[in-house]
Amino acid sequence: MINPMPSGLSYEQAAALPLSSITAREILFNSLRLHFVPPTHQKSIQTIGAGGIVGAMLTQLAAKVANLKVITTASRPENDQWACSGAHHVIYPRADWREQLNKINVRLVDYITSLAVSEEHLAKSADILSPQGTFCLIAQPLTTQQKQHLGSLRKVDSYKQ
Ligand SMILES: NC(=O)c1ccc[n+]([C@@H]2O[C@H](COP(=O)([O-])OP(=O)(O)OC[C@H]3O[C@@H](n4cnc5c(N)ncnc54)[C@H](OP(=O)(O)O)[C@@H]3O)[C@@H](O)[C@H]2O)c1
Repeated sequence: MINPMPSGLSYEQAAALPLSSITAREILFNSLRLHFVPPTHQKSIQTIGAGGIVGAMLTQLAAKVANLKVITTASRPENDQWACSGAHHVIYPRADWREQLNKINVRLVDYITSLAVSEEHLAKSADILSPQGTFCLIAQPLTTQQKQHLGSLRKVDSYKQ
């Protein structure tokens, strides 16, 4: 795949785009099988570990191409500029997710993409993922304890291994 380098970027900045963009695109459109939905049927997606380059790309594509309501988690202020850029809401991963979602009038989320994994993230994801929702995890490898926590998502109807 060959594309022109966007103007205004350094070679280093441009070199970071292809792999991360393709990863974000594969998560959304291959793994989650998303496509554009009209605003009247807008669904929500929460991206965990959105403070990196994949999260930044995923946020843009989810909001602008798939028309999702995008909620990102970012724990470090220096990463907020990535996570915030294009996201509808940013929540702090170490605080209570349900409380933070309630404040933005979101009860449960339809999709969760986890770009970083921790036992705490997995437990909290099971709590906020809607029935028939989909969880996509790309961080590897999982520890034995993390695999056990992943099992908590099985109570959600749509869990796929
Ligand atoms: N970069 C690529 O081109 C590429 C390509 C293919 C796959 N991937 C995969 O995609 C994922 C994201 O990659 P990335 O380069 O965008 O971002 P990254 O720099 O690996 O991390 C993204 C965010 O994940 C959180 N995080 C990182 N390590 C963590 C840990 N040990 N525990 C809890 N949270 C942690 C941090 O969030 P906070 O700021 O909130 O702490 C960080 O900002 C990774 O799993 C990577 O292997 C990346």
